[in-house]
Amino acid sequence: MPRVGLDEAAHVLRAGGLVGVPTETVYGLAADGLDGDAVRAIFRYKGRPAGHPLILHVLDDATPYGTLDERARALIAAFWPGPLTLVVPRRAVVPDAVTGGHPTVALRSPAHPLMRALLAAADRPLAAPSANRFGRVSPTTADHVLGEFPELPVLDGGPCTVGIESTIVDLSGPVAALLRPGGVTEAALRACIGALALGGATPAPGTLSAHYAPTARVRVTDAPDALAIELRAAGLRVVVLHASPADVYAATLYAQLRALDAPGVDVIVAQWCAEEGVGSAVNDRLRRAAAAG
Ligand code: TXA
Ligand code: MG
Repeated sequence: MPRVGLDEAAHVLRAGGLVGVPTETVYGLAADGLDGDAVRAIFRYKGRPAGHPLILHVLDDATPYGTLDERARALIAAFWPGPLTLVVPRRAVVPDAVTGGHPTVALRSPAHPLMRALLAAADRPLAAPSANRFGRVSPTTADHVLGEFPELPVLDGGPCTVGIESTIVDLSGPVAALLRPGGVTEAALRACIGALALGGATPAPGTLSAHYAPTARVRVTDAPDALAIELRAAGLRVVVLHASPADVYAATLYAQLRALDAPGVDVIVAQWCAEEGVGSAVNDRLRRAAAAG
């Protein structure tokens, strides 16, 4: 199915179907977040192992779905709508298909205006993982989504502006834990809530080391041109991804990895991003892409 308009996208979701949706981070594969059958279809399409929980996207009010403490309220006031996901104790209305049976739920209020219009039109929260097959590079344009799932309707909101997945903070324990770096930086989180541990007790699937991977091998270095010369001398077909300022690198990273991952390419040599702002999240994704090869 091709691109669809807002009304049709809302209609498909209300009828229990799946739609590719734009957000400011990456495109999602969305279903009615309160309909367990609709949510289970996401797992089938993605080839995602069951039990890997999904993010529930809300327009504004998260209180029907999770229990918000003082830290959650402070983070929501500072960063919603935006690229920040909060893991909090769930309420019973959230289906097990969304939470993977965990006692917690991941909640995010996206900033993309078309996604917000869709949440309003559908009039329900939307469960959505990134709209890629499990373990592959996340999509940042509607064409990427159509490449992964040609048979599904997609709402085209243009290229994603942040370009990498949301920051995930686990607030289910006494100390807040950063589960996945993303668009909201560690420094900004600490300025808002103070203590922040790195990594959680149970790694989230987006934090498996081999993730976000193209087909070609990925090598990451500070000196990509020198490494490319060395690898070419060894007979390999090499393409180079040079660093950009952190926000630009983030916004273009996945589109570049997809474009460079052409048939016949053996190695993508990528340059580390400067560790400023969203740069540590870019380096996190580069590290994981390299771990897969
Ligand atoms: O930016 C984003 O977060 C995008 C857009 C579409 O919103 N979504 C996204 O979804 O990246 P996904 O499924 O690719 O990654 C969601 C991450 C996974 O690593 C998952 O394990 C974690 O959220 N997660 C969801 N519920 C959780 C929970 N209850 N406890 C811990 N981690 C959870
Ligand atoms: Mg994903």
